[in-house]
Amino acid sequence: MSDIDHRHPKAEAAESNGGTHRAAVEERADADGPPPDTVEPSVRAEGKPPTGDTAPPTTGDGDGDKPPWRRRAWAVIDERLGLSALRYPVPEHANNIAWSLGGVTASVLLVLIATGIVLAQFYNPTPEAANGSVRDIITNVWLGSTLRGVHYWGAQAMYVLAVLHLLRVFVTGSYKRPREANWLIGVGMLALVIGAVFTGTVLKWDQESFEALGHNLEIGEFLGGAGLWFSADLSKSIPLLERLYVAHIVIIPGLILALLAAHMLLIKRHGISPDPSLATATGDDAAVEVAVETAEPVEPFTHHLRRVGALGLIVIGVLGVLAVLYPPGIGPSPVEGIEVTKPPWMFWWLYTIENWFGIQAIIWASAALFALLAAVPFIDRNPARSWRKRPVAMTLLGLVLVTMIVFTIITGVSSVASHLG
Ligand code: HEM
Repeated sequence: MSDIDHRHPKAEAAESNGGTHRAAVEERADADGPPPDTVEPSVRAEGKPPTGDTAPPTTGDGDGDKPPWRRRAWAVIDERLGLSALRYPVPEHANNIAWSLGGVTASVLLVLIATGIVLAQFYNPTPEAANGSVRDIITNVWLGSTLRGVHYWGAQAMYVLAVLHLLRVFVTGSYKRPREANWLIGVGMLALVIGAVFTGTVLKWDQESFEALGHNLEIGEFLGGAGLWFSADLSKSIPLLERLYVAHIVIIPGLILALLAAHMLLIKRHGISPDPSLATATGDDAAVEVAVETAEPVEPFTHHLRRVGALGLIVIGVLGVLAVLYPPGIGPSPVEGIEVTKPPWMFWWLYTIENWFGIQAIIWASAALFALLAAVPFIDRNPARSWRKRPVAMTLLGLVLVTMIVFTIITGVSSVASHLG
């Protein structure tokens, strides 16, 4: 049976669009020199990822309509910076919102870095001054409350977007060969995002921070030598709060950026994974990658970047509104020896587990979740990518999600007194 026989009607429609698209590209090439979004048909027909390395230099977007001076200026810049290499082809489905979630997460990361840099000019990480300096940012620094609000809501958004992105990757089976390593890099980034939320919570140095730090110390103690970094004993000269600050502003963002660079390089290397919904209803999924690669229209990556940028701007607008309408609060300086707050909501499922099994269970539960996440590409031997053909994986995902949501709700409706009692 030929590839065509295997194709879903959506893929066939896509192919006819692709034909039109390619014809338009070729027409433009005749009029205007080498086309900016030239696809390498031979490469794509073999199902290999588009490399874009051979993309010809171009004069920019819609070059033909631009005045000659702009085309010349672009040529001068491009010759030196090679920006036209960014115009390598990506399949159209990469522009769906679900497939753009990783890009939007990256946009929010930029917002967090930008607002974090400004906040760092006014924040004082010493235990005596930390709480007061945050209050100062809120009341005395121009736009300080809004900036802090955007940083706070940006952190929530980054966590939610990274989890939604993970769910998309899981549901579309995009972690399967050859993308296992990129899944692992993603798992590492998720752990770092959670670490950033945790260390950020400690920085404001109110009661919630202090109790979070208490958990940090107990976990460090339980881990023994391995927990030394988390304990106050590591350094006699630098308070733990200051070390957590260094982790929050240097170590964690630095590691996230390094992993993100590797994530991007691998996405470029493998190409974006195929959309299983464009696949045949009956055929075997191993053939899908090739079938979809040849059938689906493509666009230059720069168009995808523009769309992700637009989505990112919408998210930033929402963060601004949230920052003004619901600015994050701050409590008074902490009191030792009491427990009267709940942690940030993303830790609530762990709070329920701690309630039932004690503080050490927090480590076991988090370790089990991350071990399971890391193992996903290696234990799932089913070659299918469509969720409909992966009942075991989908059931497992459902069980984990329902458990985490129910545990989160239990903490949401319970009082702190029951946590202590
Ligand atoms: C924490 C910040 C993260 C950022 C900024 C990020 C960014 C991205 C971007 C821009 C893409 C391109 C496709 C898309 O946008 O959907 C992508 C793909 C991918 N990501 Fe992430 N990601 C993050 C976290 C994760 C996590 C938590 C996982 C899984 C555990 C993951 C696994 C993957 C995989 C396997 C791909 C390739 C998927 C494909 O080709 O369809 N990423 N990521």
